[in-house]
Amino acid sequence: MTLRDARLGVKHRPMTGKSLTILGIETSCDETAAAVVRGRAPGPGEILSNIVFSQTEAHAPYGGVVPEIASRAHLEILDNIIGRALDEARVSMAELDGIAATAGPGLIGGVMVGLTTGKALALGAGKPLVAVNHLMGHALTARLTDGVEFPFLLLLVSGGHCQLVGVGGPDDFRLYGSTIDDAVGEAFDKTAKILGLPYPGGPAVEEAAKSGNAKAYELPRPLLNRRETGNGADFSFSGLKTAVRQIAQKDVNVPDASASFQAAVIDILCDRSRTAMDMFRRDFRSGNSFVVAGGVAANQAIGAALVKLCKAQGFVIHVPPPRLCTDNAAMIAWAGVERLSHHAGGDALSTSPRARWPLAERK
Ligand code: KG4
Ligand code: ZN
Repeated sequence: MTLRDARLGVKHRPMTGKSLTILGIETSCDETAAAVVRGRAPGPGEILSNIVFSQTEAHAPYGGVVPEIASRAHLEILDNIIGRALDEARVSMAELDGIAATAGPGLIGGVMVGLTTGKALALGAGKPLVAVNHLMGHALTARLTDGVEFPFLLLLVSGGHCQLVGVGGPDDFRLYGSTIDDAVGEAFDKTAKILGLPYPGGPAVEEAAKSGNAKAYELPRPLLNRRETGNGADFSFSGLKTAVRQIAQKDVNVPDASASFQAAVIDILCDRSRTAMDMFRRDFRSGNSFVVAGGVAANQAIGAALVKLCKAQGFVIHVPPPRLCTDNAAMIAWAGVERLSHHAGGDALSTSPRARWPLAERK
């Protein structure tokens, strides 16, 4: 009997409208995470446990994530993390309605560890498997926390992604803009490295910026005020990074450089978001929720600027708490809740892990 035959032998009842209890597994980057979430769409849901083991220390000496180290670390600790998540939630495997694991995008070795573990648990327990797009996890977090209704406009800002997306439903993602070079978190991490700040760079730059003068250095704002021309809400950060490298060649004041860099990022994010708000309004004609997701959403200064923008533009902003903005498995479990209530059988056990898996294509 092949895995696929075994999978097809499992009978699953329709799950629409039912409250679901899902185990989530996340291993796509440098966090090994497992969580149990209970709820039904549109949320909010209940987080019964949310265990995140960060490998930051293992990667810190290299100034970035080393894929080989990451996959080995996931493999060593994942069963322990899953055990803790189930224990803390006081939920047995038998009580679960399904198992959701990140199937991409991300570092392929890590994704394979998590997805294979999810498949094995699903097969062993006779539960549906949900192969979750990591970006969908970030995108739907505001439904887990706040029960935000569709449609909403999403600003996804993480270490690997920078996108503005109109979200019409769990299967309806419309790309308004994405980065043409670096992701915004990547720009924070590279800037930190240039300025000699510790890894991960985002929190370090934000901290340094608090005591700096944002007007000290004049930095470029690529694509700013570019009027909407089809791909109107695209981002670019590599010119900004190069400019930071140039000022760092001389005697640089680190807090001032951090504050100036962060101010430029804020201007770019606000300008592009405003353009995307126009595109969203034209596209959906209803809905005024603006959701910020991904690790960079933990940045308080960026959050404050976006609050102001939303107020001026008639949008209601939703920013999940920092521990749900950075990588975690509660968001993967919640994506499992949303997907299973639409597709009760879940995904085939033959589902492949994907290093690249865009959330949305340009329409
Ligand atoms: O979503 P995430 O945890 O992982 C990815 O899927 O990429 O995002 C991690 C990124 C890193 O680049 C990190 O430097 C950035 O989010 N980040 C921040 C802050 N906290 C994390 N960037 C700016 N300010 C922060 N406070
Ligand atoms: Zn992420």
